[in-house]
Amino acid sequence: MRVVVLPGDGVGPEVTAQAVKVLGAVGDWFGLRYEVVEAAIGGAAISEGGVPLPERTLAVCRAADAVLLGAVGGPQWDRQPPELRPERGLLQLRKALDVYANLRPVRVYPSLTDQIPLRPQVASGVDLLIVRELIGGLYFSEPRGRSEHEAVDTLRYSRGEIARVAKVALGAARARRHRLVSVDKANVLETSRLWREVVDEEARHFPDVTVEHMLVDTCAMQLVRNPRSFDVIVTENTFGDILSDEAGAVAGSMGLLPSASVGDRHPFLYEPVHGSAPDIAGKGIANPVGAILSVAMMLRHSWGQTEAALAVEKAVEGTLAQGLRTPDLGGTVTTTQFGAAVAVLVSSASRGAVTR
Ligand code: NAD
Ligand code: IPM
Ligand code: MN
Repeated sequence: MRVVVLPGDGVGPEVTAQAVKVLGAVGDWFGLRYEVVEAAIGGAAISEGGVPLPERTLAVCRAADAVLLGAVGGPQWDRQPPELRPERGLLQLRKALDVYANLRPVRVYPSLTDQIPLRPQVASGVDLLIVRELIGGLYFSEPRGRSEHEAVDTLRYSRGEIARVAKVALGAARARRHRLVSVDKANVLETSRLWREVVDEEARHFPDVTVEHMLVDTCAMQLVRNPRSFDVIVTENTFGDILSDEAGAVAGSMGLLPSASVGDRHPFLYEPVHGSAPDIAGKGIANPVGAILSVAMMLRHSWGQTEAALAVEKAVEGTLAQGLRTPDLGGTVTTTQFGAAVAVLVSSASRGAVTR
């Protein structure tokens, strides 16, 4: 397997380093053969060569089996023209790889319920999946731009764009608890009325999945009122972006959430949900769990290595259960210490598995 790592900006390099460390440990255990190639994206690429997604980066990504990204962006690039912002590089990469469905699982770990702003009886046991449409909608539709007195962004969705992400979400629900909530703003937006229609059409092929439609404002409220009521959520690009940060707070920290962006062909793209966290970058205190769990998703979705994915997930849960926490979770452990502890747990589990 060829894995491209795009560390990016801010805490990106700090968390991907730990994810690669854990990949090493689980790779040893399961005898995985792979190579890791690094490339530049975002602000780091702008500093090197003036553009956020260099041709070489795109070429190595296209030739890879999977891509792991840290984060892009930061205040030093906020005055760049739109096409030369770090974030544009990430959007171009998602589009070029055609990864239209972004899977963002959210779990509340029993050992963290004391760190969550919600009461334990509300938050405990949460296990949901947000499926976010990733390469359409407001982020990509034309026309866009500005003149002196106005600016325009366009929200456009085709039937095909909605149908393919709905299928992914319905399939995910079938493999989980068979419940799908499709989130939209159908009381106002025409795109949302089409969204509902197409989701219902696709749902006919999944009679074992119960589909409910929910307005996005209500969903935002339900996510903090009764987050356990959700199994799979499917929604358009912008709503999914916002709801997943909210879900990060439900889990205890943005730093915990991983993601997998998938499409009809490989490579898929894996990235933590959080950004470059400029407020804590360079201090060595970022939570690497989102990045490490993104490697678990890579093992599952790109390598078909379910056991290895579970081993990583168990080691993360075990490390948190030992009380190791980075400052975002009220602890004093560094990024490197946390990553090392997960890798050690993976390695010791591997010895246990061999002697058993
Ligand atoms: P952010 O996610 O970077 O940070 C939000 C808050 O969460 C901050 O207080 C930060 O310290 C905290 N946080 C985030 N990740 C953390 C981690 N791993 N461990 C501990 N705490 C963590 O969002 P922001 O501050 O609004 O955005 C900063 C920059 O990141 C912007 O330029 C934005 O465009 C970019 N961004 C990039 C991505 C990405 O690359 N996928 C995602 C979101 C934001
Ligand atoms: C995310 C980020 C990105 C998005 C930005 C950095 C373009 O917020 O991955 O959630 O909005 O998709
Ligand atoms: Mn976001």
